[in-house]
Amino acid sequence: MTATAPAPARSVPRAPGAVPLIGHTLKLWRDPLGFLTSLRRSGELVRVQLGTMPVYVATSARLVREVTVTQARYFEKGRLFDRVRPLVGNGLANSNGDTHRTHRRLMQPMFHQQRLGGYAAIMSNRAEALADSWTAGQEIALEEAISEYTIETLAETMFSADLGRPAVEAVRRNFPVILKNMLIRAASPRFLDRLPIRPNREFDAATARMREVIDDVIAGTRRSGRLDRPDLLSVLLSARDADTGEALTDVEVRDQIMTILFAGTETTASTLSWAFHELARHPEVERQLVAEIEEVVGDRPVTMEDVPRLAAIRRVLDEVIRLYGVTLLMRRATAEVDLGGFTIPAGAEVAFSLYALHRDPELYEEPDRFDPDRWLPERRAALGREDFVPFGAGNRKCIGDAFSWTEATIVLATVLRRWRLRPQPGQPSPKAAASAMAHPDRVPMTVLPR
Ligand code: HEM
Repeated sequence: MTATAPAPARSVPRAPGAVPLIGHTLKLWRDPLGFLTSLRRSGELVRVQLGTMPVYVATSARLVREVTVTQARYFEKGRLFDRVRPLVGNGLANSNGDTHRTHRRLMQPMFHQQRLGGYAAIMSNRAEALADSWTAGQEIALEEAISEYTIETLAETMFSADLGRPAVEAVRRNFPVILKNMLIRAASPRFLDRLPIRPNREFDAATARMREVIDDVIAGTRRSGRLDRPDLLSVLLSARDADTGEALTDVEVRDQIMTILFAGTETTASTLSWAFHELARHPEVERQLVAEIEEVVGDRPVTMEDVPRLAAIRRVLDEVIRLYGVTLLMRRATAEVDLGGFTIPAGAEVAFSLYALHRDPELYEEPDRFDPDRWLPERRAALGREDFVPFGAGNRKCIGDAFSWTEATIVLATVLRRWRLRPQPGQPSPKAAASAMAHPDRVPMTVLPR
């Protein structure tokens, strides 16, 4: 039997609705999540036009695995990552090849299981303080409270709180501005970046402010001479290349810190905010979780050892991350590559959306329904390992997956034991805004005692 030769890239089916010159850009601007989810209907590999540039979108689990694992050696990070370079430079999520390998090896120990135990104690203390800070009947902006929690926890776990109050404040104020504009930037022609329009001014000012704050932290830590502490900042500042003996430059250190702050705060905060939102809409699921927390944890603070025993919380988190996952990731082919029966040329941009993949009706029955029971072992067994990849796969898989899961579990267990969070009457339901994740725009809640 002879294998069919791959077809040329120009015959990849094109997504409907392209407009001359701007292609699908407006569609992506107006309703990114709806547009990305619709692409599966056009095929496993679909061509989208960003202006005049073609982007090949892998819409099936099989092809996403090819791009991230099986054929990962033919891909580097793509345009989306180029467009956040002003913010995170050549940090871990953006770098390629040897630089990526060396930096990943340097940072990996900060995320080892032994380290997580220490982080869990900090996460738990801070979660208790968050729950203590609320009073019965209080109205809160939940997404803001959770966002502050994740930033402060990351600062204390990864940077021994060296980041200081001004940095935490700067992250809290500037990241939302950056995130709001990020996807629009990725989808726009580059010349638009230079126009003095409001989104650009906001993005540039927020990025400059973040850089300034982190540079101050680095300079302060260097001046203090205390580089022997077991935190990420000290590890980065004292690292030496095994061959050359060279240290990382301050810009390289800043890029890594920005990357960790960027990748490690909104992601978990968004997941937690949606989790509380869904639990308020599904009190029967919430009751199950509370019963589990009472049995496993009781009245004491939540510990690392509790985390794997809180299986019902895990199912809720899996379901939330399935429904509200990472919006869009991109790669660039470094060589000609066969993908889904087509030959993609070197230099071509390839994209995939975990949000869309995890709502594929061929993989998930009633994909838009919140149903944590789909993660019960007997039902989960029906899924292939490539069908659920909220943290990506292969050599670029999330370095913070266990950190994030530990943190989210601890916050849910600590808060749910004390409080019932309910939507404020008359307020609209949160809407998913596409930034790095499908982030909830606002989650106004009333705090009620359990
Ligand atoms: C719900 C929480 C999170 C989700 C859904 C998530 C998702 C992801 C995904 C999908 C990737 C792969 C990107 C790609 O393939 O291009 C990634 C990479 C990364 N994540 Fe996460 N993440 C989360 C939390 C965190 C946390 C808490 C941290 C750090 C404390 C973190 C740090 C990173 C870094 C540094 C990378 C780049 C890794 C590399 O390229 O070697 N993430 N994340």
